[in-house]
Amino acid sequence: MTDEATRLIALAREAARHAHAPYSNFGVGAAVLLTDGTVVTGANFENASYGLSLCAETVAIASASAQGRLSDVVAIGVIGGVIRDGAVTGSDVVRPCGRCRQVINEAAQIGGRDVRVHCAGAQGDAVNSYTLSQLLPDAFGPADLGIGVKG
Ligand code: THU
Repeated sequence: MTDEATRLIALAREAARHAHAPYSNFGVGAAVLLTDGTVVTGANFENASYGLSLCAETVAIASASAQGRLSDVVAIGVIGGVIRDGAVTGSDVVRPCGRCRQVINEAAQIGGRDVRVHCAGAQGDAVNSYTLSQLLPDAFGPADLGIGVKG
């Protein structure tokens, strides 16, 4: 595992402790690395009206955007697992859902870089690392609308 992956997975695991997931009982944490080394985290945020629920990656990317840092995203760590006795558990590797891949792509294209995506479980040493373009090839995004792409 790279230092970057180790750091982001550790912070994503911490963030997942604040998952609001009483309906699915599945906690997810995300940690977004910015160009200056700052990390912005998020956890899934469910709603009693189930379909309104927000994924951890979306919360974290939106939070980075709210801090004016959407174009500075270089990598994201994602973990998830079943909540048991208040703790997120399990060592199965969790990868971003399709909608979150599209959300990460917004940051990737606005920033003009292929975001690295590190995926792990809530526990254990297994980490799978990808680039966003591997997870979402030939993506539709801001570039198609002629918007804000650097470089
Ligand atoms: N979830 C995420 O936070 N990220 C993903 O990429 C996949 C799913 C959340 C949504 C819901 O709160 C719970 O996991 C179960 O689907």
